[in-house]
Order: sequence, then structure tokens, then C-alpha cells
Amino acid sequence: MGILDKHGVIERNATLLMVLSLVVVSIGGLVQIVPLFYLENTIEDVDGMRPYTPLELSGRDVYIREGCYVCHSQMIRPLRDEVERYGNYSLAAESQYDRPFQWGSKRTGPDLARVGGRYSDKWQVDHLKDPRSVVPESIMPSYAFLANRELNIEFIEDRIRAEQMVGVPYDQAMYDSAKSDVLAQLDPYSDGIDGLLERYPGAVARNFDGQPELTEMDALVAYLQVLGTMVDFSTFTPDESR
Ligand code: HEC
Repeated sequence: MGILDKHGVIERNATLLMVLSLVVVSIGGLVQIVPLFYLENTIEDVDGMRPYTPLELSGRDVYIREGCYVCHSQMIRPLRDEVERYGNYSLAAESQYDRPFQWGSKRTGPDLARVGGRYSDKWQVDHLKDPRSVVPESIMPSYAFLANRELNIEFIEDRIRAEQMVGVPYDQAMYDSAKSDVLAQLDPYSDGIDGLLERYPGAVARNFDGQPELTEMDALVAYLQVLGTMVDFSTFTPDESR
């Protein structure tokens, strides 16, 4: 009996074929999955990554509430056209503190993973209020109302606590000063600024929407301006040892 005839036996016996297929597929699955159990962490630590400030975190909540992710992704794929358009491809570590992550797969608008610092605050505010005032062909909806809505920070400590529970490394000082950190980030000359920068190195403090009130617009713009700016790609080198 030749080898092909022997294989014929398997092909004519559906149960045997199924059992053997399962064996083969399981081997493939184990080869992929088992090594992951022996890694301490599947995310490479990268310098510069820090949890969001309470103001940025609030802005992120506005982003999610308004469904911005329906039209915008936040993951630059390692493909040449993407990297040329948006910048360095996204690292796993960059969404390490994002729960839930905002990678997305729908791009009615451009990817926002590195939009931080690309435009001025004024541009961001004008664009959110009336997208067509700065990009005439835009089909993005207007979010002008965000500039008139006061940002609710009554439960900001609970928000920080919730992040702690899912593993984001906010410490007790960050929890205790959550409210004052929101206000400090809107005024670079406030007393709280040193504490804010100590807890969140590299955080940028200024009046994001240009109005005296603390609004959802402030929070959203603070969030947009930090996107993709935490890692310094002029000095970053990937760890090739893993
Ligand atoms: C219906 C789809 C849609 C929704 C929802 C949407 N956008 Fe957009 N967005 C677009 C499109 C299309 C563009 C490109 C044209 C433009 O710049 O307005 C864009 C552009 C942008 C840009 C400029 C990006 C760049 O690199 O030039 C930013 C920032 C932005 N959107 C933020 C937001 C935020 C924040 C929200 C939620 C409050 C949001 N968008 C909701 C469609 C959308």
C-alpha cells in the first residue's frame, strides 16, 4: 500500500479526518500560544510613557462619549504609506494605559495617533467648533457645544480609582490631587504646576480653549495635543533582543 493509498483511508473516514485535523491544528495553536506564557510581559517598556493627567483622561472620556472613534483610528500600521503620512508606526506601549484602546479600524477621517502638536490649540478649537472653517471640504460634524459645557470633575477621583483597578499605575498622590491637577494644567503659572509636572513628567499646561471657564473643550484639546507625543522618536530604539 503506497503512502497515497494510506492517506486515502483518512479521506474516506470523516471522523478520523476530523480528529487528525484537530490534532494538527492544535499543534499549530500551541506553537503560537505557549511561548507567550513564558514572557513576563508582552509589552516592551518605553521611556516617556506615563498615565494621562486627569484633564487628559477627562478629554479622552469626552472623545469616547462623542464617538470620535467611529471615524478616527489611533494606530499607525507599519506600512510605508502610513508612516510617511502619520509618522512613526504605533508602539504597543503607546496604548498601554488606554482602556479601552482606541485603535479602531474605521478611517472616515485621518488617524489621530500622532495628532498631538501637529496643530495649534486655536486650530483644534476652530476645527472642532466648525470643521469647514479650516478644512472647507471636511465632512466632520461640528462639536461647538463642547466649548459651552462645563467639565464635570466631581467624580474625577473615582475615575482615577477605576483606572487603578484595571492596572494603570496611578498612585495615591495622583488620586489625592486629581482635582487640583485638572486646574493646574489649565494655568502654567498656578501653584499646583510643580506637583503636576512631578506626577506627570512632560505634561503641557495652558488654557487650551482660550476661555476662562473649565470646559469639555479644554479637556478634549488637552487630550488631542498629547496623542503620540509621549515617546521621543529621535532617541527611541526598539529592543531587538525579544
Ligand atoms: C463623521 C465622521 C467624523 C467624526 C464622528 C469625527 N471626525 Fe474628525 N475628521 C473627520 C474627517 C473626514 C476629517 C478630515 C477633514 C478635516 O480635517 O476636517 C477629520 C479630521 C479631524 C482632525 C484633524 C486630523 C488631521 O490630522 O488633520 C482631528 C483632530 C479630528 N478630526 C478630531 C475629531 C474628534 C476629537 C472627534 C470627536 C469629537 C471627531 N474628529 C469626530 C471625520 C470625523
